[in-house]
Amino acid sequence: MKKQVVLYKKLSPLLMARLHEQVDVTLIENLDAEGLGKLRDALPRAHGLLGASLKLDAELLDLAPDLQAIASVSVGVDNYDIDYLTERRILLSNTPDVLTETTADTGFALILATARRVVELANLVRAGQWNRNIGPAHFGSDVHGKTLGIIGMGRIGEALAQRGHFGFGMPVIYHSQSPKPAVEQRFNAHYRSLPELLQQADFVCLTLPLTAATQGLIGVEQFAQMRPETIFINISRGKVVDEAALIGALRTGRIRAAGLDVFDREPLNQDSPLLQLNNVVATPHIGSATHETREAMARCAVDNLLAALAGERPANLVNVGAWKG
Ligand code: DGY
Repeated sequence: MKKQVVLYKKLSPLLMARLHEQVDVTLIENLDAEGLGKLRDALPRAHGLLGASLKLDAELLDLAPDLQAIASVSVGVDNYDIDYLTERRILLSNTPDVLTETTADTGFALILATARRVVELANLVRAGQWNRNIGPAHFGSDVHGKTLGIIGMGRIGEALAQRGHFGFGMPVIYHSQSPKPAVEQRFNAHYRSLPELLQQADFVCLTLPLTAATQGLIGVEQFAQMRPETIFINISRGKVVDEAALIGALRTGRIRAAGLDVFDREPLNQDSPLLQLNNVVATPHIGSATHETREAMARCAVDNLLAALAGERPANLVNVGAWKG
């Protein structure tokens, strides 16, 4: 008998066809109240789950006694209780690598947009307020040659360093759990303590995962260590930052600007003070959101899921403790 898979993300016809060949599929198109009801109804029969952007907590997963595998269409796995999954021997997989370059592109888009005030000045043109040559009040700051500070030198951090070093001639400094000699050699990068990085970087870029250790890592104290010229970029997770402290730092000129793709709560509330600040560029969590990359991520998740349901170790297994070995 075919295994039962619940998709809570729509896939391309090609990937749907691949899944249909091997498993029975229940598709939940929207994660609204109705969709969540359908998900609850489908969980008791599910052997596999595939999707993204849904907190799958124990309360929900207890409804799925036969669950064997979850394939997350994301690199971040902060939506899952990994200890709980491991205890139940449910294999969790993610989609690293395929989104690295695209997410680094997003980081660089935010660096350029904030430094050169692209959104603010494009809006000025659109509003019919470009009446004369612009002067210093509308000047931005250079990106090339400025110091790029990366917190969390994983795959995406490295791809950002590559762009900064080779593309924009930026000195690269970084902070991570431990120094990375190979990265230092490739990008002439220098390891710094967190306070040193916050003091020295012109661009402070977060590329680290959300974990118990990184939640709230950047707060009042850390913003106080930055300089008035600092531009803050977050392409990791909103909860790594104390958002109230960030808003305070932007309002008071403690830092110059912020480019944010992720927020404490998503979607970002229309009433957020961040949206009243001209020195903020806010994007709707688009780190990996290109046609090519989202398809590659979905393909990777399908491969992971089908392998797991066939009793094979998925290529991108997150909770290795759940693997029978
Ligand atoms: C990821 O893959 O983790 C992206 O941030 C989308 O959630």
